Amino acid sequence: MLEQIKSTAAYIQSKISFQPEIGIILGTGLGGLVKEINIKHTIAYEEIPNFPVSTVEGHSGKLIFGELGGKNVVAMQGRFHFYEGYNMQEVTFPVRVMKFLGIQKLFLSNASGGVNANFSVGDLMIINDHINFFPEHPLIGKNIKELGPRFPDMSEAYSKEIIAKAKKVAADNNIEVQEGVYLGLSGPTFETPAEYRMVHRMGADAVGMSTVPEVIVARHMNIPCFAISIITDLGVEGKIVEVTHEEVQHVAALAEKKMTLIMKELMKEL
Ligand code: HPA
Repeated sequence: MLEQIKSTAAYIQSKISFQPEIGIILGTGLGGLVKEINIKHTIAYEEIPNFPVSTVEGHSGKLIFGELGGKNVVAMQGRFHFYEGYNMQEVTFPVRVMKFLGIQKLFLSNASGGVNANFSVGDLMIINDHINFFPEHPLIGKNIKELGPRFPDMSEAYSKEIIAKAKKVAADNNIEVQEGVYLGLSGPTFETPAEYRMVHRMGADAVGMSTVPEVIVARHMNIPCFAISIITDLGVEGKIVEVTHEEVQHVAALAEKKMTLIMKELMKEL
């Protein structure tokens, strides 16, 4: 795997004259941040050796290199989800490559179901911790010492320093934010009422189908992480209604402006 990561990073470096400091992974319906990037290079996933091949019909994802809030960033427009059938090595491969391209921090966004009774649809939640409930772990197998330790510490999966800065940015811009624990599981079904209840009782505030594998792999390589979740539906007793992917995308698109502003302003503070 190490050779694959290195050769993929070398290929990308041969195509661009650019050193990204920050990696960004954008979630469902949250691609709008890309419009704020002063784009220097774009590379389609299918051009990149060893990158997983997209299963989403029609358009595949791309890596976008450019400047955002005064920082050089590389953004993944389109992530690989476990529920699409990728294995955990494939889901997290781009994070490995971004590290070899030079990123020093990783920003992520996602859409999730809120299980905290104080949350409303459309809220932003800064993720301050996670519970890994995926059926597979991305670090199972022989550990590659060059990437990180066999038993990585997860006591600060989400950087306290970046969270503090993000809260200040939100307050300065009059944007209300929630903060809480994200529980990641495979999907692709949304949760039953009993499962939402379980998620809440296990100590989470929101539930979704991404982010956790990428953060684990980033922390393995000692990259500080920051993630924001948009609460697109509620798994709260008495407030549970039918959830559809279209509704998730719709709510994410409405809340996206606030998230984009925080991410962009936060770049300036790093
Ligand atoms: N559950 C899991 N994933 C999600 C949800 C949800 O309710 N909403 C958006 N992504």
